[in-house]
Amino acid sequence: MNDDRRVDEHSKDKQLETFRRETGEELTTNQGVSIDDTDNSLKVGERGPTLLEDFHFREKMTHFDHERIPERVVHARGSGAHGYFQVYESMAEYTKAKFLQDPNAKTPVFVRFSTVVGFRGSADTVRDVRGFAAKFYTEEGVYDLVGNNMPVFFIQDAIKFPDLVHSIKPEPHNQIPQASAAHDNFWDFISLMPESMHMIMWVLSDRALPRSYRMMEGFGVHTFRFINEAGKARFVKFHWKPKLGMHSLVWDEVQKLAGKDPDYNRRDLWNAIEMGEYPEFELGVQIIEEEDEHKFDFDILDPTKIIPEEMVPVKIIGKMVLNRNPDNFFAETEQVAFHPGHVVPGIDFSNDPLLQGRLFSYLDTQLIRLGGPNFAEIPINRSACPVHNNQRDGYSRQTIDKGRTNYSPNSLGGGCPMANPENLRAFTHYAEKVEGHKIRKRSDSFKDHFSQATLFWNSMSSAEKDHIVSAAHFELGKVQYKEIRQRMVDLFNQIDNELAKRVAKGIGIPEPQPVAQNHGQSSPALSMENTVKDTVS
Ligand code: HEM
Repeated sequence: MNDDRRVDEHSKDKQLETFRRETGEELTTNQGVSIDDTDNSLKVGERGPTLLEDFHFREKMTHFDHERIPERVVHARGSGAHGYFQVYESMAEYTKAKFLQDPNAKTPVFVRFSTVVGFRGSADTVRDVRGFAAKFYTEEGVYDLVGNNMPVFFIQDAIKFPDLVHSIKPEPHNQIPQASAAHDNFWDFISLMPESMHMIMWVLSDRALPRSYRMMEGFGVHTFRFINEAGKARFVKFHWKPKLGMHSLVWDEVQKLAGKDPDYNRRDLWNAIEMGEYPEFELGVQIIEEEDEHKFDFDILDPTKIIPEEMVPVKIIGKMVLNRNPDNFFAETEQVAFHPGHVVPGIDFSNDPLLQGRLFSYLDTQLIRLGGPNFAEIPINRSACPVHNNQRDGYSRQTIDKGRTNYSPNSLGGGCPMANPENLRAFTHYAEKVEGHKIRKRSDSFKDHFSQATLFWNSMSSAEKDHIVSAAHFELGKVQYKEIRQRMVDLFNQIDNELAKRVAKGIGIPEPQPVAQNHGQSSPALSMENTVKDTVS
């Protein structure tokens, strides 16, 4: 490895320093021309009209007119922080990833916590999943662990993501309701998607109301792969554990806070770092040998399933400390671009169909959100180690590539970077053997939608169960269609009869009889013929 690829805890900060600008004292235009009056536009006489030649006015106004970029299509509201990651002991047995080898090395990180549904300006304390995305600026390139604060997801296949997000975002005709799961479209969709029931249990629980971003767990959700120097692969699940422990607000608190201090979680993170109370998270991994892939009664490629810690314990391998607030919200927190496809040698994907679809979606969305193909050059997104390739031009290109050639193969040299087959440290995709027919079908091994939801319900204390039932009453109580409420009770009944009876009682649905769990259930039969509004009074 070249010395110029080395990074340490301060590498990213030093790189960012080259882009920082003090505000300065004397006003100039973008061309550096000093300006003596920014309060009056250039006019003909005292009462106008304003002259087109007023370049200072035009530049100031044009820039302002273009200050907004599209918010993220999901996870629009977030808060970021800088810090470092340090592994406790070498993970060489499992992975060759350089940043997981040396316990003395500190890898710079940037983390963004977020809500999922609300707009950029929505309240922090809502019932929602929280994003937990970490960018590691390693000496082998950028690695992103783009996780959530819940270990499972709503859907099993990425092709359902646009449907899921359409259903949970405000309704398209009137943009009501904002930032809440409490509405007809969402529960209509969920009531027809039994695979979402495990995640729904997490969303109705106190996990959806974190007290602080410093007090949340994080999960990579999907099964990934670790590959060691010898080329041996193992499956891995990633976990973040907060050093402060996990704490939640209660429903009454979140509702009041959303009104009184919509920045509650953002402020808490900022203030803690300003006061030197640096948030710390330990990274844990569950490692599964390849030969054990099929030994579970669920599929480890199914993102609606956890691997219970009793079956595969979480091994704590390192810690992350967040010790610096961003200098500029827009430049860093807003423009940062995470992508589950940003991996380094030693970490690879699995065939989880949700992960596979995510690998397409992030770059695609960032091309429009960040204005074209050059957003990897935005300071917060830059790799801390050198970047050389033949990509050129495009909107807002910053790099001035020298040399006469920019294609491969080439015999003229001229500064053109070439792929080096001799570089044993280069990323090589894990050579997994796969074969099969092209089919549009969900694997039968993904069909049990209820066992782990039951496991979750059974693991709750009685106070936690009360909170889940109250949450269901609040959310489903606002659903105007009885058929949807009925279908939800039927799904809860597949999880636990007691749960279903308690939910039914609060939303105008008759208490259901116990049923045997249907482990292979597909969507309930649809009949909207009798769908009439019937709000719970
Ligand atoms: C953000 C797509 C599932 C975690 C995003 C964004 C998109 C997206 C388009 C906006 C990115 C941007 O504008 O920079 C998808 C798709 C999914 C999926 C298509 C499923 C098919 C998940 C899952 C997780 C997750 C399962 C957690 C493991 C996040 C996080 C962010 C995000 C944390 C915010 C990153 C940030 O702070 O900038 N997702 N997502 N997503 N997603 Fe996903």
